[in-house]
Amino acid sequence: MLAAIAEDVRGCSRCELFRTATNGVPGEGSADARIMFIGEGPGWHEDRQGQPFVGSSGKFLTELIGLAGLNRDDVFITNIVKHRPPGNRDPLPDEIAACSVFLDRQIETIDPEVIVTLGRFSMHRYFPGERISRIHGQPQRIGSRLVVPMYHPAAALHNGSLKGTIEEDFRKLPRFLAEQEAEREKRRQDEEQPQQGTLF
Ligand code: URA
Repeated sequence: MLAAIAEDVRGCSRCELFRTATNGVPGEGSADARIMFIGEGPGWHEDRQGQPFVGSSGKFLTELIGLAGLNRDDVFITNIVKHRPPGNRDPLPDEIAACSVFLDRQIETIDPEVIVTLGRFSMHRYFPGERISRIHGQPQRIGSRLVVPMYHPAAALHNGSLKGTIEEDFRKLPRFLAEQEAEREKRRQDEEQPQQGTLF
């Protein structure tokens, strides 16, 4: 299923970005991931290799994932747009809208318990009009998932004072996963309750 989505991304012409890109970058990681990371869009290295977060911000993201006690194979990493915006410009609203079908399908397939947005474009999918400086690192329950807005790793690379902040936010991820596990168990028990009632 993820492979079919990836194939559709690589052949996509729903917006103009494919014309200037070298490769589509669908995303990569585990189909069973409990956490999904959503960045902004492929940069130069990602466009060349067809893989997400493989340049300098990717190297830092890999370190941050390690701070959460995980590695890249445990999680799923993707972007809000799957082809590189020329010159690394910001993705446009109609490009984000055209690409959202792929993200929707990836989320439906993987069904992650925690979604981490990296930077403002993916944050605005869940928290339109919000400011990252106000809500970073604070999880919000949306349906059955926790959505955690985080600074983009590139922002921390360009602004040293954010480095400690983003590291601290990533260190909270194991706690959010544990909360989700407890919430799941509670829901499981609530679902069993009426059946137990009929036994007596
Ligand atoms: N920045 C992003 O937002 N995504 C990538 O894949 C690489 C850099």
